[in-house]
Amino acid sequence: MDALRIKGGIPLSGRVAVSGSKNAALPMMAAAILSDGPVTLDGVPDLLDVQTLSSLLSRLGVAVRRDGAGSVHLENIDPALIRADRRLVARMRASFCVLGPLLARRRRAVVPLPGGCAIGERPIDLHLHGLTALGADIRVRRGYVIARARRLVGAKVNLLGPHGPTVTGTANVMSAATLARGVTTITGAAIEPEIVDLANLLVSFGARIAGQGTSTIEIHGVDQLGGARYRIIPDRIEAATLMCAAAITGGSVTLRNAPTEHMQAVLAVLESMGCMLDIQEREITLRAADVTRPIRITALPYPGIPTDVQSQLTAVATLAAGCSRIEDRVFPDRFHHLRELVRLGADIRRAPGRASVRGVMQLTGATATATDLRASAALVLAGLAADGETIVRRIRHLDRGYERLEEKLASLGARIERMKARNAAAVGVR
Ligand code: UD1
Repeated sequence: MDALRIKGGIPLSGRVAVSGSKNAALPMMAAAILSDGPVTLDGVPDLLDVQTLSSLLSRLGVAVRRDGAGSVHLENIDPALIRADRRLVARMRASFCVLGPLLARRRRAVVPLPGGCAIGERPIDLHLHGLTALGADIRVRRGYVIARARRLVGAKVNLLGPHGPTVTGTANVMSAATLARGVTTITGAAIEPEIVDLANLLVSFGARIAGQGTSTIEIHGVDQLGGARYRIIPDRIEAATLMCAAAITGGSVTLRNAPTEHMQAVLAVLESMGCMLDIQEREITLRAADVTRPIRITALPYPGIPTDVQSQLTAVATLAAGCSRIEDRVFPDRFHHLRELVRLGADIRRAPGRASVRGVMQLTGATATATDLRASAALVLAGLAADGETIVRRIRHLDRGYERLEEKLASLGARIERMKARNAAAVGVR
């Protein structure tokens, strides 16, 4: 697998554009199954998860084409296909978002239990509970979800789980309900911006949805949905990662196309660390603090600090002047990055669901292994700040979720290069 070689210690500076949101793009591409007309999504990031979902959709009879301008065109050409490819679904959890649309539009679906990042327990009970409430007959056999329905029927569905609402579960149930007969009311719905964006796309198909962005979403089913052209929101997680890169290297970076309104919690944390922020409507400039102050943060569902930024903020905290406390209530086991950060000299203690980080004066380059998408980002950030050379191994996870991250960081002055798998192996990196 490819690796990244980073020579740390250079403060990042310059301007960089934020890509379209991965977590908005994926359920939207799956939602194209619902539509009887052509769908064009503008601003779809070019990353591995999008490519994997494109392959999956092609095998489900959806023609998918990316053009040179970053738009993806989707059109249903063979609605008889209902079986999702096992190997492709195993690569990414979000591919499970095809279940609701398949069931609603094609009345049958066979979808393997999903894979994805190793960030702790990731059940799908709420997805199945929601679709069953809409009248689907669902069985789980030998690792496959086998679902069928005549026409789905609107119902009251609660999607609140022990760790908060489910994001992709809300996407699945909301998408399916657009073609159900009657009214569906989802309570305990996720209010993440990506869910609002999906709802807005579905509305542009002709769906009747109200309450998106609140915990109660009401969907009046319609008989048919048409095509649409729609621009995806910018990626708040990528934006936060780039801000953390500026903060940890003591740099000054301006983000273009920044979704400032979706980043309030993260921006407040960076400000509390002593970073100076200049926030315009679509642009943010961060000037790093001379001395970063420690933080006490808890990752929560939106509008709280995203669990997807927890590991990056942890990386920044490794160099703060004092002791930080990091808790994750969405994925309490999402702390695989800690052990790897320790390899670079971080002083971290882990307890169930949280970590204590005692800031050190300096991190030192080392070889670290990426274990999941956002953990990989945290290691890259630590490498950018560390003294000497850091190698981040197994960056397939990073490629899953970031569009050309190393190119963007290099454009800000970072010394970072990709070692192709063969070259990495030649120098003993696997
Ligand atoms: C989505 C995001 C992911 C992010 C996560 C939380 C996409 C493609 N992925 O993942 O980047 O980290 O939201 O913001 O949008 N749960 C249940 N039962 C279920 C489903 C989930 O108990 O059926 C639990 C999970 O274990 C977790 C919590 O609910 O503790 C939130 O998970 P969920 O919102 O479903 O995460 P994803 O939608 O998979």
